[in-house]
Amino acid sequence: NKGNYEHYMQKEIHEQPQSLKTTMRGRLIRGGSCKAKTVLLGGLKDHLKTIRRSRRILFIGCGTSYNAALAARPILEELSGIPVTMEIASDLLDRRGPIYREDTAVFVSQSGETADTLLALEYALENGALCVGITNTVGSAIARRTHCGVHINAGCEIGVASTKAYTSQIVVMAMLALAIGSDTISSQERREAIIDGLIELPNKIREVLKLDQKMKKLAQELMAEQSLLVFGRGYNYATALEGALKVKEVALMHSEGMLAGEMKHGPLALVDENLPIVVIATRDACFSKQQSVIQQLHARRGRLIVMCSEGDATVVCPGDNCRAIEVPLVEDCLQPVVNIVPLQLLAYHLTVLRGFNVDQPRNLAKSVTTQ
Ligand code: UD1
Ligand code: F6R
Repeated sequence: NKGNYEHYMQKEIHEQPQSLKTTMRGRLIRGGSCKAKTVLLGGLKDHLKTIRRSRRILFIGCGTSYNAALAARPILEELSGIPVTMEIASDLLDRRGPIYREDTAVFVSQSGETADTLLALEYALENGALCVGITNTVGSAIARRTHCGVHINAGCEIGVASTKAYTSQIVVMAMLALAIGSDTISSQERREAIIDGLIELPNKIREVLKLDQKMKKLAQELMAEQSLLVFGRGYNYATALEGALKVKEVALMHSEGMLAGEMKHGPLALVDENLPIVVIATRDACFSKQQSVIQQLHARRGRLIVMCSEGDATVVCPGDNCRAIEVPLVEDCLQPVVNIVPLQLLAYHLTVLRGFNVDQPRNLAKSVTTQ
């Protein structure tokens, strides 16, 4: 049932304040004035000690689920102090990469049925790792085969392009980081700030959704383009990859997400006055580095679209033909949840304007159950 919406993707984008609330329901415990705020993940509470003792955490997934894990990686590393490595499921299998008993392998999958992820899970089980699932589908193969896990509870996702599952996955992995780090006194304040940020997040998403018409106008400007680059770094490297994935898979427009730190090592050669480039430059520890990336692109007459924090448009935009997308500022590790929304809206409007099938992009299936 699409309700008042024309497409499931559109409905699922606009549903995110609600789906995020459901994801967090009963899992954030806000004590009285003297009691600390904490996270409770029922599916993991008996396994946290084992996870804390592991030598390494591996995130394993495909497509959007991989990108969600990439967005959560920095906060997991910060709060757990455990090295976190990223694996695209098919690549791990191609390499038969080493996995040990001392590893915790976290499998991220909306459907819980993706063949590559499931085969990687069997492989990790054979090698004796603790296997944790993060999935949206109760009773799915990945939920059943993992030792423990967390359901993201985002509600059924019908559009082939994953939107609300992505934001809920990031929130669950941020909660995972909080749960693993909950025995560390030195990070208590940081953790409480993140919990406050999580509680406010649905309202912030409601705010950022107001950019809908603005993103439609931007889509009208970009609809005839061949290509779109997206530069991000730090917490928002994943936003760049995921934004570009949305644009290519539904709007059928070539788009590439790139690590801004790599710009000078090749991609800069592509820059001219025609190619549109989105730069994500919301406030965080990487902000000044992104400002210099913007300056360098501007110096080469790059056609810039800058995503920045509210009130920063005049700070980040170097010239008149630079477009700004202002988004609400949230706790740094939660910023990717906010920042992906305008790009989801952009991909959606581009698709409608270009006349393609929004909910069932050509050649794609919702659940990829073959290798
Ligand atoms: C559970 C109930 C929820 C109830 C809540 C009350 C289910 C599915 N969930 O939620 O309805 O409101 O208690 O306290 O009945 N698991 C895996 N792999 C995965 C995902 C989950 O093994 O990929 C396991 C978990 O370890 C756990 C169980 O499935 O044993 C349920 O997980 P989850 O729904 O996340 O647990 P709760 O949030 O506690
Ligand atoms: C992109 C998309 C795919 C899936 C990928 C993994 O919008 O939907 O990239 O994310 O096929 O699917 P799950 O998460 O079901 O394992």
